Amino acid sequence: MNIINNIRQLRSWTSINRGTRCVFVPTMGALHEGHAALVRAAREIAGQAGNVIVSIFVNPTQFGPNEDLTKYPRTLIEDLSLCRDNGADAIFAPKAEDLYLPDRSIQLRETSLSQTLCGASRPGHFDGVCTIVAKLFNLVQCDDAVFGKKDYQQLAIIRRLVRDLDFNVVIHGVETVREADGLAMSSRNRYLGAEERAQAPALRAALLQAREAYVKGGVRDGRALRQMILDHLTAAAPVARVDYVEIVDAATLRTPTEATGLVLAAVAAFFGSARLIDNIELK
Ligand code: PAF
Repeated sequence: MNIINNIRQLRSWTSINRGTRCVFVPTMGALHEGHAALVRAAREIAGQAGNVIVSIFVNPTQFGPNEDLTKYPRTLIEDLSLCRDNGADAIFAPKAEDLYLPDRSIQLRETSLSQTLCGASRPGHFDGVCTIVAKLFNLVQCDDAVFGKKDYQQLAIIRRLVRDLDFNVVIHGVETVREADGLAMSSRNRYLGAEERAQAPALRAALLQAREAYVKGGVRDGRALRQMILDHLTAAAPVARVDYVEIVDAATLRTPTEATGLVLAAVAAFFGSARLIDNIELK
């Protein structure tokens, strides 16, 4: 596995590998089984002849002023092993100063999909995500890129980024990987105390209940589905402080207007200091 630490080395890697299908997995490190699934999916897409490259970069521009960038977990040695074990060919792990010059003056802005769900309480977050992903796409020159469905809003925004800025990259969404009790894997789970950890699976259980009501019970009223999720969380996870529960159109991330479109139930809640998110497609 090649370990690439700066843009000069990356340019040389891309030029040597020109003509070989390149599948890219962007990450911020602190990798877990959910990321392992992304790397394995990338390996599958690339086939034996293709290349899988993973970036590990804690992107400062997607952190808000009250979000502690310095406290973000950094576990590079373990991350490298996980990538190697799951079939990565190369790792791109640049330093912040390599990617962001002190006098930089251009960045991307997303003005629609980022206004709801997580974006509503994290202003500028998805602008930072779009900026770094666009930079990485330009640098890595991948044919495909793989993102997790747990960050459903991010995936929708990346698809829009590719569409609106004409990137020649195919985006693949990979299903969320879960602990045995249903809790979605996240680098934030490590911050949960025992009681918080015990109650956190209620997020998944509440979403499953809403899906059951939608699919089997025929419930189409978004407010009723939302209330069902809130009631479940109040009963099963009293330690949780709900940030949002939303029933949205899976493509626009807005209140659904057509009964036929794919509908998404999405939730974010604080368990102690950890803000956990989860979602489910209602189908
Ligand atoms: O999902 C993440 O880890 C990050 O938002 C991403 C896509 C790597 C951009 O920094």
